[in-house]
Order: sequence, then C-alpha cells, then structure tokens
Amino acid sequence: MRVALLANLKKNAPTLPGESPDRWDDLDSEETIQSIMQAIAAGGHDVTFLEGNASLFETLPRAKPDICFNLCEGHFGDGREAHVPAILEMLRIPYTGSQVLTLALALDKPMTKRVLTYHDLPTPPFQVFERVSEPLNSQMEYPLFVKPSREGTGMGVSAESIVRDDAQLRTQLRRLFERYDQPALVERYIEGREVTVGLVGNLRSPVAWRVPDDEEAPRILKGLHFLPALEVDMTAYPVEEAGIYTSRIKVEMAHEFHYLCPAPLADDQIDELNWLAAAVFRVTGCLDVARVDFRLDAHDGDRPYILEVNPLPGLNPGYSDLCIEAAAGGWSYEDLINEILNLAIERYELE
Ligand SMILES: Nc1ncnc2c1ncn2[C@@H]1O[C@H](COP(=O)(O)OP(=O)(O)O)[C@@H](O)[C@H]1O
Ligand SMILES: [Mg+2]
Repeated sequence: MRVALLANLKKNAPTLPGESPDRWDDLDSEETIQSIMQAIAAGGHDVTFLEGNASLFETLPRAKPDICFNLCEGHFGDGREAHVPAILEMLRIPYTGSQVLTLALALDKPMTKRVLTYHDLPTPPFQVFERVSEPLNSQMEYPLFVKPSREGTGMGVSAESIVRDDAQLRTQLRRLFERYDQPALVERYIEGREVTVGLVGNLRSPVAWRVPDDEEAPRILKGLHFLPALEVDMTAYPVEEAGIYTSRIKVEMAHEFHYLCPAPLADDQIDELNWLAAAVFRVTGCLDVARVDFRLDAHDGDRPYILEVNPLPGLNPGYSDLCIEAAAGGWSYEDLINEILNLAIERYELE
C-alpha cells in the first residue's frame, strides 16, 4: 500500500517573534520520523514523509497515498491537532488514529473533563481561570494544581504548578497567562503515583459501545488491546521536580527516563485502570490508539484519577511512554507502528 507519513517536524516549525522556548516541544524529531518510516516499510508498504501543513493540498494529490499515518500536532489554534485530519477528510483520504472531533476535544483538557464528568468517570475536580483575579470556587480546596488548558508534553508544568495558598495560585496564574495565551486549568492536586495506560485497537462488541451504569454489568472490552501500564519512577528524579511529570523530565531528561513497566500494581488495580482507560477511549471517541494518564491518590487508597487522554501519543522509539509499554508487552517498535496502521486499514476496509 502507498502510505504517507504526516507529521510536524521540529525543524520545519514556523519561528515567531517572542515565542516561548517550549513552543514546539511536542513536535517530532527526524529520528522518530526515520524510525516510523522504516517500520512502515518493513510492514511491506511504500512510504513517503510529508510535512503536515498547508502544503498538503499540493503534496497529497501528487503522492496519492492509499492511507496516511497521522502524527500531526499542528501549529496554530485550539483545534491544531485536528487540522490535518480535517484536510484529509476534505480530500477523502483515509488516515490512522482518532478523527477531528476527538483530537480537538482531547487537546482541550477542561472540555475533556466535562465529558468524563458527564460519564461519571473520575477526574480531579476543577475550575477554569481566564483572569488572574477570578474568585476560587468554594469547593476547591488547597493544594491545587495549575496548568495550561491546551498544551501537552508537560508544557507549563513544573513543581510550581502545585499551589498551596491564594498568593501562590495567583502567581502561577499570572505566569501561565504571560506565557500561554489560553485559559488555565486549576485542579485538585492528586498526590501519589503516576501511571499511564496505552491502548491499541477499536471497540468491537456492541455492548462496549456504552459504559455500563451498573457496577455489576459485564465490562466488555473486545477489540481493545491494553499495553502493560507504565509508572513513572518519581523516586529517581530530583526532589525539585516534586513528584510531578514535569516538562523538564519529559523534554530535558527524556533520554534518561526512569520508569517501572509493567507498573507494580495488583491485578485488580490494573483491571480498574484498563477499564477506565477503555471507558475514556470510548466516550472521547478514540480510534486505533491512545494513552490515558492517571494519578493514584495516595491519601485515598491509590484511588485512580484520570488526568487526560492522548489520542496522538508520542512515538519516539525507546523513550516515549507508549513505545516502552509496547516493548514491555512483547511488541517490537515495528509491531506497534504496523498494528496502528493495520487497524486503520481494517476500519476503512482497504484490504
Ligand atoms: N491534578 C493533578 N494533580 C497532581 N499532578 C498533576 C495534576 N495534573 C497534572 N499533574 C502532573 O503534571 C503532569 C502533566 O499533566 P498532564 O495533564 O498529563 O499534561 P501533559 O499534556 O503535559 O502531559 C502529569 O503527568 C502529572 O505529573
Ligand atoms: Mg500527560
């Protein structure tokens, strides 16, 4: 099959005057693109790389791919991860992974949390701030956690994100507003372990198309493959990181990542996390692949809270969470990439 790999390379990112230094932290490196291209070629396909920007309107008709492997994070706007899928739908070209609505939703953490809350899925209580001086809702209790509403890769997340009083809250809000032109998400701070669950597949059984209301109802997850959960080993990082999966850990220390995979959790805890991850996958409309991030509340028997869903999880071989999980599950990098591709090929009935 002719496959076009679509991504946004860091080196092709537009430069803007006065932009924050972490602005393009979630874009891909050439090494990652090379690895994915090799994996797709090893799967028996012809593969070309195309930069995922407005040039696609010219490059795609020339390349005439049967399907695109989409990794585009986008450049501008609150729907940036959905731009390329929107173009592909306009041009009627199949692509891997989640579609426009899911990608735009998942980029917006408060919107995602509203959907999760509607479905009674556990996510920390929250409030969105658009101004520094907005009053804090009475049910929000310190310590709180302050982060940008629509970023990823730990952008705007540091030890200072934990705020313990009104002065710290206002300082952190001011910082975020200066640096990121978007509302701030303030959540209850969940002190505890950090676990992430990767899923590959698509829900098949009709029963799984709804989340059962009933605790006792069978939890049917047919079609989804759960990779072993990964726990970030916070004990291996400087205390200054405060047990948070910060931008420093994700970007500067990415190559010396300390983790436990499979996460040392009891079977029933794994079942619960997998179930929650599947429910998130379902209610946010994910396709083919996703990663769901959790914190386990140390003050409440490791009770899991959903932080976010990543429908475009990082695929850097060796150090992205999903790739480590796949390896721990006995999948090679090639297996992971081709599984994602084949799921999309199947969905579009291209074979
Ligand atoms: N409510 C919270 N309580 C405790 N830690 C949090 C909370 N929200 C985020 N974090 C920490 O910040 C990290 C990044 O937050 P997350 O919402 O996953 O954003 P990103 O898109 O940058 O991964 C998390 O992995 C976790 O370590
Ligand atoms: Mg995260």
